Amino acid sequence: MSITASFWIFFIPLSIVISFVSAEYTWPSAQHDALEQFLYEGTHVTGDNVAGLARFCLPRFLPGGDQPSSVAAEWVRLAYHDMATHNATDGTGGLDGSIFYELDRPENVGAGNVNTVGDFKDHSSKLVSRSDIIAMGAVWAVAACGGPPIPFRYGRKDALKAGRSGVPEPQQNLASHIESFRLQGFTQKEMIGLVACGHTLGGVRGVDFQDIVPDPSISSIATFDTTSGLDSAFDHLIVTQYLNSSTQNPLIRVPSGNSTFASDLRIFSSDQNATMKGLNSETSFSQTCTTLLAKMIDTVPSNVHLSDVVTLLPVKVSNAQITAIDSQLVFMTDLRVAFPAGISPTAASKVQMFWCDSRGVFKNCNRVTNVASLPFLDEPSTSPLTDSLNIQLVLYRFKVQISASRSVSKFWFEIDGAIHNNGGNGYPIGQDEIIFVPSLGSVDPKFLQPDPANPSEFLPRNYNLVFGVSVTPLITNEFILIVIYCR
Ligand code: HEM
Repeated sequence: MSITASFWIFFIPLSIVISFVSAEYTWPSAQHDALEQFLYEGTHVTGDNVAGLARFCLPRFLPGGDQPSSVAAEWVRLAYHDMATHNATDGTGGLDGSIFYELDRPENVGAGNVNTVGDFKDHSSKLVSRSDIIAMGAVWAVAACGGPPIPFRYGRKDALKAGRSGVPEPQQNLASHIESFRLQGFTQKEMIGLVACGHTLGGVRGVDFQDIVPDPSISSIATFDTTSGLDSAFDHLIVTQYLNSSTQNPLIRVPSGNSTFASDLRIFSSDQNATMKGLNSETSFSQTCTTLLAKMIDTVPSNVHLSDVVTLLPVKVSNAQITAIDSQLVFMTDLRVAFPAGISPTAASKVQMFWCDSRGVFKNCNRVTNVASLPFLDEPSTSPLTDSLNIQLVLYRFKVQISASRSVSKFWFEIDGAIHNNGGNGYPIGQDEIIFVPSLGSVDPKFLQPDPANPSEFLPRNYNLVFGVSVTPLITNEFILIVIYCR
């Protein structure tokens, strides 16, 4: 990247807005904020709602026609296949994104795995690893299909190469499956439970497993149980139908007739059905799957340390910034508030923002505390997890004019009389000497055009980034704007 810079001085007119008037999470926490947003809003930093792809347990829509299974089923299978490289003996492998380098192995065959890697490959960032997204994918998927909220922790590190082999295949015998799960860190009883929890979703595709499902057409699938799609697919029917012998699970009653592939039958019956009988209720299935799927996504290399479980922040600040818009210095921030679904937040809530000056005679709220009401209301995206918790999110967007001579040191909120002040300290503005001014920046029009000299590549992207530099106290109330051209 080459960077050239040019400078000019831009005088922003003075304009003053004067309004008179808890070992917990503390804002800002860049990684926690990004992961919490991804988990509950479903969105990548670019605003792409990745989680929405799995919503309602729907099939994947493709130009050539819908694929036979649900996106959610594909995401759960991929998470297991990624985790299956764990070796509990030496603490290597686990849910580490190594699956991105392992798709050409026979043990990972399947359109679903290829689709899932496509869903997740462009959404990692310096704060959110691919492996954290794969783990979140399993959480979103289970919630999207009516299953329980699986606790999510972050901090997985991405492998840079393939891990060991070790994903069990249906033609292998029971002893080999018990050994595979032992190496992954699961007992025989846990193996039975985890397979049942996974195989409540989706099924076996003819196109990938003709030895099991002989019809090779693209739409051919034999599902593990008879609830799929919108009908709360994550349920214990997989267990009930197995125990009452009505099951059509293709890894029990193999459509091709070749019982070598009846791996679910061998696994489920391996303890004389004791575990399956214990799973045959909504409550026990849901509780066991919560524990086992959480253990599955938390199976990581021993040198990786995961965060505490990420809970939804009922009140969350984001995008707080001092910037310039239309030659005016402004302070902007978003406040996201969680409400139970079904109530009208506009009717229910009075939301105000307060802030202190960082300079001048009113510094640190000396005699004057600024206040703003009437924020702009918006609706952030939600993820299947948020939907399943019956929560709606509302964004209150504040934008107030400020002056450089007073600026902002910290801010806080009052919602229906309750103060939200970041555990007592207020939300801090770290510095205001250098500000980013996206409203004056641009991406040049050649953005995303193919390079005529090399059509498989795009033309270089040119960004004009604009920053403001405060020259106070030399000349109060003025900012110099610096334009940086990045190529
Ligand atoms: C011995 C162990 C296992 C064997 C032999 C096995 C085998 C298979 C096979 C052959 C398929 C069909 C894949 C396709 O057609 O795309 C499948 C699908 C699936 N498996 Fe497993 N599996 C095992 C364990 C697990 C576990 C532990 C989980 C997760 C907890 C899991 C989750 C899934 C899911 C969700 C699907 C459906 C995928 C879709 O419909 O796209 N499996 N499994």
